Amino acid sequence: MESSSCIVGVNIKQCHYCFLLVSLLMILSLGNSVSSSSSPPTKRFHFNVEWKQVTRLCHTKPLLTVNGQYPGPTIAVSEGDKVEIKVTNSIAENATIHWHGVRQYRTAWADGPAYITQCPIKGGQSYTYRFRVADQRGTLLWHSHYTWQRASVHGAFIIYPRLPYPLPSKIHAEIPIIFGEWWNGDVDAVESEMMKYGGGPNSSDAYTINGLPGPLYPCSAKDTFIQTVERGNTYLLRIINAALNDELFFAVANHNLKVVEVDAAYTKPFSTPAIMIAPGQTTNVLLTTDQSPDSSGMFPMAITPYLTSVFPFDNSTSVGFLKYNLKTKPSSTPSLKVPNLPKMSDTPFATQFAQKTRSLASRQYPCRVPKSFDKRVIVMVSLNLQDCPPHMTCKGYDGKRFFASMNNQSFVRPLTTSVLEQHYKNLTTTVQLSSDFPEQPPKKFDFTGVDPLTENMNTEFGSKILTVPYGTNLEIVLQGTSFLNTENHPIHIHGHNFFIVGRGFGNYDPNVDPAGYNLVDPPERNTVPVPAGGWAALRLRADNPGVWFIHCHLEEHTSWGLAMALAVRDGPGPAQSLLPPPDDLPSCGDPHA
Ligand code: C2O
Repeated sequence: MESSSCIVGVNIKQCHYCFLLVSLLMILSLGNSVSSSSSPPTKRFHFNVEWKQVTRLCHTKPLLTVNGQYPGPTIAVSEGDKVEIKVTNSIAENATIHWHGVRQYRTAWADGPAYITQCPIKGGQSYTYRFRVADQRGTLLWHSHYTWQRASVHGAFIIYPRLPYPLPSKIHAEIPIIFGEWWNGDVDAVESEMMKYGGGPNSSDAYTINGLPGPLYPCSAKDTFIQTVERGNTYLLRIINAALNDELFFAVANHNLKVVEVDAAYTKPFSTPAIMIAPGQTTNVLLTTDQSPDSSGMFPMAITPYLTSVFPFDNSTSVGFLKYNLKTKPSSTPSLKVPNLPKMSDTPFATQFAQKTRSLASRQYPCRVPKSFDKRVIVMVSLNLQDCPPHMTCKGYDGKRFFASMNNQSFVRPLTTSVLEQHYKNLTTTVQLSSDFPEQPPKKFDFTGVDPLTENMNTEFGSKILTVPYGTNLEIVLQGTSFLNTENHPIHIHGHNFFIVGRGFGNYDPNVDPAGYNLVDPPERNTVPVPAGGWAALRLRADNPGVWFIHCHLEEHTSWGLAMALAVRDGPGPAQSLLPPPDDLPSCGDPHA
C-alpha cells in the first residue's frame, strides 16, 4: 500500500521519499538529455516485461508486469521531447508495448500493435521505441498490445505542456488514477478459451482503482486506494481507463469534477457529478476539496461499469477514498455510498456527458477540425454469429460462434510480416494484403432495427486495408448495429486524433445528419464510444504516413476481429514520409516454429 500510494499520488508532503526519487529520476534523465538548444532533449526509460507474484482477493498468482510494478511505471515527458524506451522481454511469450494516443508522426514503427506495425518482441529480446512527442499535452496511457496482456501491463503516459495549463484554478498536486480489472485466474486462458469455443469471455473478478479492488470485494478491504488531501485545495486527477472490456462511470461522493482535458487535448472546462470513460480513454479533471467531511474524514469514490450488453458482465463496484487530512482523529467508519454515481445502464448520462465534452478551441489551442472532407467511409461496427464448423462444439448463441467485424470484415493479423512492413515494401497487392476495404456496409438494411438476427451474416476473414493519399480529409461514420445486442463500442484510431463531429441513435442518414454536425468545437480524441444502437461521425486529416490500427478497445471484440487498418501514403515532401524501419525492429520468424 505504501509503495502503491507513492506511485499513484504525487503529493509532496505525504510522499517525500517518492518526491526525492522522482527528483533523482528527473536529474538522471536530464543527465541523459542532449542539451543543445536546437535539438529537443531525449528522455530515456527502460521497461522490463516480467512476472511478479501478486495477491488480490486472497488469490496469489504470477502477474505480468513492467519492472515488477502493477499498475506499471509512469512515463512523464514534456511536449517536444524525444523519447526512447527500451523494452526488454524477459518472459517466454511474445510482448509489445503501445503508446496509446501518442501520434507517432512518421514513426509508425514505434507504435506497438503486434503484427500491425511490428512483429512481437520475442522472449529474451529487446526493442527500443524511439519517437517524439509533439503538439499533444496531458494524460495518455501505455499498454501491451499483444493478446490480453494489457490486463496488467499498463501505466500512465504524461505529457507536460510547454506553456502553462490554461486552467481555471491553481493546482496543488496531481493524482494519477488508473482503472483496471483483476482476474483471479490466468487472463490468457480466458482469451484462448473464448476463441476456442466461440463463446463470450469470463468476466473479471474485480475492478481496480490503481490496482486495488477496495472493500466491496471478498478479502479485499486492505487493498483499498486511499488518497490523502488537504481541505481547500484543487487537485488534478489524471484518470485512465485501462480496463479490458468495460466502459466505466466514476464519481467522488459530494464532489463535482471539472473536466479540463480528454485524450491529451484540452476541453472547455465543465462541471459534472460523474464521468463516463471508455477503455483507452483518459480524462483530466479538477477536484476542489471544499466539502466538510463527517467524523471519518473520508469521502468514497467509486467506479461501476456502463453496461450496454446483455452478455454476462462483471457488474460490481470498486471503491476507494479521498481522505481529508483532519486535525482530529477519525471517529467513525466511512460510508461506502456514492449517490452521484450513475446507474449501470444510464445511457442518458453517457449521452449528456459526451455532448458536454467540447474542444477548448481557444486562440492558443485552436480546434483543427477539417471543415470539409475528401472521402466519406461508412463503417458498420457489429458482432456476428458464425456457423459452427463441423466436429466442433461452439458455445456462442444458438450453438454458433461469436465474431465481430467492421463492414462485415473480421480482421486477421498477418503472422509472418507486419502490415506496416508490407506497406513499406509496397507489398500490399500480394495475396495477403489488399487495399480494398469496403467503404460502405455490404448491404443496406435497418442496422439498429428490432429483429436484427435475421440480417446476421457470416463475416469474412481477411486483412483488407483502407488506403488513402497523404493529407486526405477523411470522414468516418461508425454505424452501430443491433446484431445480438446494441452495444456501445469504444473505437480507437492509432496515429491520429480525430474530431467527433456528430453522433446519434438509430441509423445514420447522410442526407440529414451532416446538417447537425459540430464543426466549431467538436471534441478531439483518439477513442470514441459509439452510442449503443447509434452512430458517430468522425473527421480527421490523414497526415501521418504509415499503417494505423483501428479497433474496438474492448479487448474481447478485437479478438473477434472488430478491427481494420488504415494506410496513409507518403506525402510529397521529404518531411512527409514514413521513416525507414529501425535496425532493431523485431522479425516475426516462423510463427509455427
Ligand atoms: Cu490502446 Cu490499439 O490500443
